[in-house]
Amino acid sequence: MCGIIGILGKSDAVSLMVTALKRLEYRGYDSAGIATVTDGVLGCRRAVGKLVELEATLATAPLQGKAGIGHTRWATHGAPTTANAHPHIAGPVAVVHNGIIENFRPLRDELRAAGAKFTSETDTEVVAQLCAANIAAGMTPQQAVDATLKRLEGAFALAFLFAGHDNLMIAARRGSPLAIGHGDGEMFIGSDALALAPMTNRVTYLEEGDWAVVTRDGAKIYDALGNLANRELRVVNVDSVMIDKGTHRHFMAKEIHEQPSVLAFALSHYLNANRTAVVVPEGDLDFSQFNRIVMVACGTAFYACHVAKYWFEQHARIPVEIDVASEFRYREPPISPRDLVIFVSQSGETADTLAALRYVKDKAGLVVAVINAPESSIAREADLALPIKAGVEVSVASSKAFTCQLAVFAALSILAARQCGKIEASAETALIQKLTQLPRLINEALAQEPAMALIARDLAKARDILFLGRGTMFPLALEGALKLKELSYIHAEGYASGELKHGPIALIDESVPVICFAPVDPLFDKTVSNMQEVMARGGKVLLVTDAEGAERASDGVWKTLILPKIDPFLAPVIYAIPAQMLAYHTAIEKGTDVDQPRNLAKSVTVE
Ligand code: AGP
Repeated sequence: MCGIIGILGKSDAVSLMVTALKRLEYRGYDSAGIATVTDGVLGCRRAVGKLVELEATLATAPLQGKAGIGHTRWATHGAPTTANAHPHIAGPVAVVHNGIIENFRPLRDELRAAGAKFTSETDTEVVAQLCAANIAAGMTPQQAVDATLKRLEGAFALAFLFAGHDNLMIAARRGSPLAIGHGDGEMFIGSDALALAPMTNRVTYLEEGDWAVVTRDGAKIYDALGNLANRELRVVNVDSVMIDKGTHRHFMAKEIHEQPSVLAFALSHYLNANRTAVVVPEGDLDFSQFNRIVMVACGTAFYACHVAKYWFEQHARIPVEIDVASEFRYREPPISPRDLVIFVSQSGETADTLAALRYVKDKAGLVVAVINAPESSIAREADLALPIKAGVEVSVASSKAFTCQLAVFAALSILAARQCGKIEASAETALIQKLTQLPRLINEALAQEPAMALIARDLAKARDILFLGRGTMFPLALEGALKLKELSYIHAEGYASGELKHGPIALIDESVPVICFAPVDPLFDKTVSNMQEVMARGGKVLLVTDAEGAERASDGVWKTLILPKIDPFLAPVIYAIPAQMLAYHTAIEKGTDVDQPRNLAKSVTVE
């Protein structure tokens, strides 16, 4: 996640912006920069490395201005260079950005054909160039931003500053959080309340699709349709803002909704600047050196391994063995130097997983940890620790960590396929192009929350619930059942759809909701047959599918939930949203402690 700050102040904004950027360090950075407008003239200073480098640059080349925007950038795609650092400037426009612009390549080609000269490898520069072209065409800054936003695809947060306008900033939120800070005759923009805390505790959180025209008199907020929107101005408790729920009732809700932005961040870390190749910044990982991949984890992390098994085997043709950590070492599995063993853990402290890592440490060819805590025990004891970049996950039930684990494995399966000679570079780029659609598609799936909340009212009445799925939807069925169990305390089981008829179908009657994860893919018709076996016995089927699937198979089902149409490769990431959201709203209906369910702990540090 990158950090954004913007200030329309009554006094010099530069030192305040640097202070605010330091408060965004928890988001990480590999470069930082600020731009100001003074007497209508845009100025910009950028530096590679930590904030102290930007301060050193400012000491030797000072910048003044009461209006400015600033940015921190983490070591994401490609080498961190000054040219790639934000803010990006084109003509009279300066912009800072957090997220992914999916269609930056065709837009860049279009702009280049119109004569635009690009100076960086980033997708962000396309936003500055497009906005500048709109202004050159005679639009006002507000019209230019409005027209620019309409051309962008992806999930992002943006802040704009304009030459000739000392009292104007424009902010936009689509999939990544952004907040407006209210001062006394001053106004601010920030990635979160923490960044704004040095200036104000009066905050308005932009909602999905909002954009705001900010002057020192206040902010005019427009919704995604361009209508003026009235958003709540809240007084934020700045002391606890580090783990602030923002506008959400629970951390679980906040973390579910953070997925578009953290996933963009996770993906960016493992893609080169042009998003044409997968990279592993942490070190050399060559899948072609190994005969087998062994993956070990617990709970939700294990289900991420289960999905990854399909991807590695299908894309790279490498055999994958998976196991839960608590069983793995006690069966004394043979491990060879030709084995790559991957341990997955959000906390990096799960005792079962750590013990399993120690079992293989002197046996395996390479021990890799895929973790959300780079300083954790599992990260430290592995040969190579790969971060998932999900940010702090407070809720005991894992959500954004799961989808970030999937995103990392999706990227690694593409890398493995290329290294094992199974795909050409062009195919790698095509698969990556699909991956960069994920933040937007998750956003679209999140828009179904009201429908999921309605369904949860009925699920909350059930005593037993089954989840079914085929292919990569089978581990999603397992994860959906786990989420429901641990959040609402309702008994739930996940099954491979084809396995139901081998016994579990005896459980079916009209009191048992059966949730089928079934995107239209090569296995769809088989899943529909299993669904019909359930309905023939009075079972209530909730069909979770896409519009085509609903068209083909919703006759006779109890309810249908329609998700965006997606490539089967990406389905597990998108179908995690209903798995999480149905459980979350069922728990609310049941009145359980959503963020700290009974009997559980966020990290199980005992075997
Ligand atoms: C997930 O919702 C559960 N809280 C639990 O299964 C969890 O995934 C498991 O304990 C593993 O935790 P880890 O990823 O921190 O190792």
